[in-house]
Amino acid sequence: MNAALIIDSAYFVAAFLFIFGLKRMSSPVTASTGIRWAGLGMVVAVLASFLYVVDVEPDARPFLTTNVILAVIALVLGLGWAWWSGKKVAMTAMPQMVALYNGMGGGAAAAIAAIELFGGKAHVGVGLALAVLGGLIGSISLSGSLIAWGKLDGRINKTLRLAGLQAINGTLLLVLVGIGAYVVYAHGQVPVAVLAVFFALALFYGVMMTMPIGGADMPVVISLYNAFTGLAVGFEGYVLNNPALMIAGMVVGSAGTLLTLLMAKAMNRSVSNVLFSNFGAAGDEQQGEISGSMKPVDAGDAGINMRYASKVIIAPGYGLAVAQAQHKLYEFVKLIQDAGVEVKFAIHPVAGRMPGHMNVLLAEAGVPYDIIYDMEDINNEFKEADVAIVIGANDTVNPAARTNKSSPIYGMPILNVDQAKQVYVVKRGQGKGYSGVENELFFRDNCNMVYGDAQKVMVAMIQAVKSLEGGH
Ligand code: TAP
Repeated sequence: MNAALIIDSAYFVAAFLFIFGLKRMSSPVTASTGIRWAGLGMVVAVLASFLYVVDVEPDARPFLTTNVILAVIALVLGLGWAWWSGKKVAMTAMPQMVALYNGMGGGAAAAIAAIELFGGKAHVGVGLALAVLGGLIGSISLSGSLIAWGKLDGRINKTLRLAGLQAINGTLLLVLVGIGAYVVYAHGQVPVAVLAVFFALALFYGVMMTMPIGGADMPVVISLYNAFTGLAVGFEGYVLNNPALMIAGMVVGSAGTLLTLLMAKAMNRSVSNVLFSNFGAAGDEQQGEISGSMKPVDAGDAGINMRYASKVIIAPGYGLAVAQAQHKLYEFVKLIQDAGVEVKFAIHPVAGRMPGHMNVLLAEAGVPYDIIYDMEDINNEFKEADVAIVIGANDTVNPAARTNKSSPIYGMPILNVDQAKQVYVVKRGQGKGYSGVENELFFRDNCNMVYGDAQKVMVAMIQAVKSLEGGH
């Protein structure tokens, strides 16, 4: 069998494994094996690349040894870094990591484009146009993702707000498209300086596009860059005539696009609204007066009250992940279930800091999937619940999103916890949510605050209910 046939077959296997893995990732039950299958696909694709050495083109032969050594060094460095950082990353810092990896993908696609364009290698016509487009999108994705990483990691705290920023960005984009068109028109035979300016401007555009976008919109932006990276990789796959890159790029591009649309929908915003308005930077926005007071209660009393309820709905949020309280929470749930209480979990699509964050946490604690409900499936049930308990969630249960037009989260669908007869909110103190706005729910008559770290609160609730059982 010749090398080309083996390489093509390996790419076919890799493509199959990517798609099969992705399919399995669509359910929490099969997701962890899905990621392994897709990872195996990646190993096959990477190994297949080394088979090129068998019948390398004659003019590339003198560089073969150097290139293989460089590729191996890159692999060892990349593997080592990914292994180390993947092992130590905290669950709450996962979105930053995704942003960083995503940026690397965009950068890799841009690097391929740069090699093709600076080396004058891209085929004239469609190949050249796609190399230019992939270079543009990949560069934007690289610098934009790095800014998104900096913002999510708390390293960049500024949200750029300049009058006329949209006009500046619009002009930048036009210039970029103009240079790109010129490169294609000139069959790639342009001065090196033109290409250098093209790549530098594209990187700068990624920065300018991301800097004005505020915190709460970051997940949508990261997912959009994810789609961009996929697109850029797919284009460069065409340029290199590499089917594995094309398929992987298309899979990432379409998954990223779908996720972007789903998340934008979950926040009741359009993608263009996210990109071209200043939502989510909150904190200094004008907010209406809130009347009422926050009424603290003892964790044990709240726990006992739930033990005697007939229906309890739990709304978890980012604080549950911070406190790592999922195991204790489920222990409490089992206790009250044994006492005959019906318990359900209500998951807001952007609760936590990454898509599916709460599902992952609850799965880790062994909570069965059939008591976990998506927002739209459970929102009508809150009015029948005796107790809604909010654990470390804030923005996702803030009624201001429904009524307060001046609130930065206005329009985002929320969990209807306020409709339950009694609401308990577990949080450490007066901390605001991600969007930085006050929550009027905490001041409502039917709401009580259970102050403390979520894990400690759950332990106190468990003890209270257990002591009750022991006492009878
Ligand atoms: P948030 O609105 O971020 O509120 C979290 C609350 O948890 C805070 O009010 C905090 O109050 C409390 N908390 C923190 N640590 C705690 C601990 N150890 N024990 C108990 N409570 C603790 O949470 P959410 O309702 O999940 O909303 C998510 C927000 O993040 C949304 O605005 C969303 O747009 C944004 N976001 C989402 C994603 C995705 S894709 N899910 C990604 C990035 C951003 P205290 O400080 O008083 O304890």
